[in-house]
Amino acid sequence: MPQPLLSIEGLSAGTDEKTILHDVDLTIEAGRAHVLMGPNGAGKSTLGHVIMGDPAYEVSAGTIRFDGADITADAPDRRALAGIFLSYQAPVEVPGVPLMSFLRTICDKRPELKMKGRAFRARVEELAEQLDMDKSYLERELNVGFSGGEKKKVEMLQLLLLQPKLAILDETDSGLDVDALSVVSRGIQAYRETCDGALLVITHNTRILERLEVDRTHVLVHGRLVAEGGSELITQIDAEGFERFEEAGCKGVMS
Ligand SMILES: Nc1ncnc2c1ncn2[C@@H]1O[C@H](COP(=O)(O)OP(=O)(O)OP(=O)(O)O)[C@@H](O)[C@H]1O
Ligand SMILES: [Mg+2]
Repeated sequence: MPQPLLSIEGLSAGTDEKTILHDVDLTIEAGRAHVLMGPNGAGKSTLGHVIMGDPAYEVSAGTIRFDGADITADAPDRRALAGIFLSYQAPVEVPGVPLMSFLRTICDKRPELKMKGRAFRARVEELAEQLDMDKSYLERELNVGFSGGEKKKVEMLQLLLLQPKLAILDETDSGLDVDALSVVSRGIQAYRETCDGALLVITHNTRILERLEVDRTHVLVHGRLVAEGGSELITQIDAEGFERFEEAGCKGVMS
């Protein structure tokens, strides 16, 4: 059997003050599309950040393996180099750094992506066009003054440029108008087609999933994975909400 791309076992993690994730097990195989759903405050973003190695969180138990290696203690940049990408729920603004220079810098760290100046610019411009982004944005400071939707498109631009093995998209669809939503879901499709990348999509919005063939759905409640299924689970949640999972999440936390 092939080794999974991402394998999380018995993961508990949180801040100094509190444990947010409790005994999480999650396996993602290469090229598969997984969806993570759960009520506000369940710990979905935290899980994404812990997979990425965000130092704001401490792992108190369990392991994270990626592409055959134990990465539990690795710094975020090593994880990025290994092929993990996290699209932030709230992308940060970086004054003083033009978007194009930022993209150049992150690509330069990846020898397999190194392109000569002109070819690089042409590639970035091509992707910007694909995402319906005006080229002038490439010269602006990273995310500074960008609207919520524009910031999400910048995240998609990075995803398409970097072609990671695993992309964790944390509510990339939130705050997007109908047209932007369609641009972003086309971007996700392009990512899947060009590099057969695996996905962990965190979302509250089933529209983004309409064009995506979902292999597995996970439900996180109170920091515990309480249910797992196929895409039918998404339809159920959409119709019924999370109420029926709440009890399982609370029991887990109290036990
Ligand atoms: N750095 C932090 N410091 C303190 N508390 C935190 C931190 N990060 C997350 N939390 C808390 O952990 C819980 C889970 O937060 P998280 O952002 O992971 O939820 P979420 O499932 O992504 O919710 P949403 O759907 O609203 O985005 C929340 O109660 C949040 O306040
Ligand atoms: Mg979140």
